[in-house]
Formats: sequence, C-alpha cells, structure tokens
Amino acid sequence: MTTAITLSTLRAMKKRSEKFATLTAYDASFASILERAGVEVILVGDSLGMVIQGNTTTVPVTIDETIYHTRCVRQGSRHTLLVADMPFMSDATPELALANAARLMKEGGAQVVKLEGGAVVVDTVRLLSERGIPVCCHLGLLPQSINKLGSYRVQGRDEASAQRLLQEAALLEAAGAELLVLECVPAALAKEAREALTIPVIGIGAGVDTDSQVLVLYDLLGITPGKRPRFSKNFLAEAGSVEAAIAEYVRQVKSGEFPAAEQIIA
Ligand code: KIV
Repeated sequence: MTTAITLSTLRAMKKRSEKFATLTAYDASFASILERAGVEVILVGDSLGMVIQGNTTTVPVTIDETIYHTRCVRQGSRHTLLVADMPFMSDATPELALANAARLMKEGGAQVVKLEGGAVVVDTVRLLSERGIPVCCHLGLLPQSINKLGSYRVQGRDEASAQRLLQEAALLEAAGAELLVLECVPAALAKEAREALTIPVIGIGAGVDTDSQVLVLYDLLGITPGKRPRFSKNFLAEAGSVEAAIAEYVRQVKSGEFPAAEQIIA
C-alpha cells in the first residue's frame, strides 16, 4: 500500500459501501505486515494490557505505555491510518484528555485517538475535535468498565439500551466523532447504527453490517492465552503463515465473508 489512508479515504469508502479492514497491532514488525497486507486502519488498543502485558483487564494500561507502543507501530507502518486508545482515566476530564491525546499524537504519531463511553464523553469529543484531534468513539461493551459490568457480555439487547446506544452514537457524531467502534452488540443494532450515521462504523462482535471489522491481532493468530472470544476467528490455523492469515482476514472483511454465521451474535 503506497497511498496514505486518511479519514477522507474511509468516509469515501463508506459512501461507496466498500468495507475496510481494521486490526490491532502493538509493534513495528507486525505493523509492517499489516500494512503490506492492505489493512487500512491499525488500532493500538489498550488490549495491549492483556495480550502483551498479561493483565486480566485493560485497566492498568498507562498513557506512557500506549505512547511507546504507538511509536513502535508508527515505525513499521507509514501509510496506514493509526488510531491509539486513550487508556482508562487518561480522559477523566476534557482537559486531561486534551493533554494526553496531544501526547499520543506528538510523541506516538497517532492520527486518531479512541475514547470509550457515550454521553459522558461528549464534551471531551467536542473539545478534542475543535482542537484538531480526530476522535474514534467506542460504544457497546466497554472493557475499561469491566469492574462495574462484572463480565464481558453483549450490550444493547433490550429496547431501552439499544435506543440509548443509538442516541449516544448520534450525540457523539454531532460532537465531532470521526469513527465509531461498536463492540459486542446485536447485529441488527449495529446495522441500524451504521445506517443512521454518516461516520464509518467499525464492528467487533457486532455482525457483518458495519463499514469495517476489527479484531485483536493475537485472537486472529490464535495465540491469545485462555478462551477465544466467540466473535473472533483463528485465521492462522488455515492460512499457514502470519502474512497469509492477515491477508485472508483483509480479504474476508472486504468481501463480507467475515464474520460468518458462527461468529455472529443475534
Ligand atoms: O483495545 C482494543 O483492542 C480495542 C478493540 C478490541 C476494539 O478496543
């Protein structure tokens, strides 16, 4: 891939109903494989706290650790759009979020920052957006709230919470969000959100009717310790090499073959 991917590229793809591929990475070597395989968006997710650091949740991840991994990924990928997660409480106030997001961009080379949460982060999204920091929002299952939720389970199943999610998504878009990740929500709800919003929607455990899919790279390679989430798929098992597994993921996301029925939560 030689042309740099920008937010305009992704908006144009959504308009053409052309899907793009998103995947997490945490270092330069994997980042360069992802870029060569045609992944449009790399997310330096705070999942790094689990798959790299071996924690049981994403909560302990710090802003300095995220900057370090973002910088590593930037070294390995020059043209892929680079999104970095704002770790737990690094966005506790709009002012703190502004300072930390600026560090992710200046020191890490991130082009977009990702925030978990709905109505509670609307003011932050507006401030960042007004100051020239593109924001990706994250609704549905919010892993940073695991200590409140108690378990990683599907969100938005009942009518009231589904409506709340749709309203929050609209508020975030109006506040300036550029992208939205929807995690672990029923496929029909993700489809409704995707149709209602003009910004691209990236799904994980959210069915096939989104503008993009994202997976944790180590789940895709089948090397995450413990139980693999039902919505993910081990692409390495059949592909035989890391490069071929990632290329196959990109192909299946773009063609709409992934997620298939067995990975979809109704
Ligand atoms: O941290 C992460 O990797 C994420 C994705 C699972 C969306 O937020």
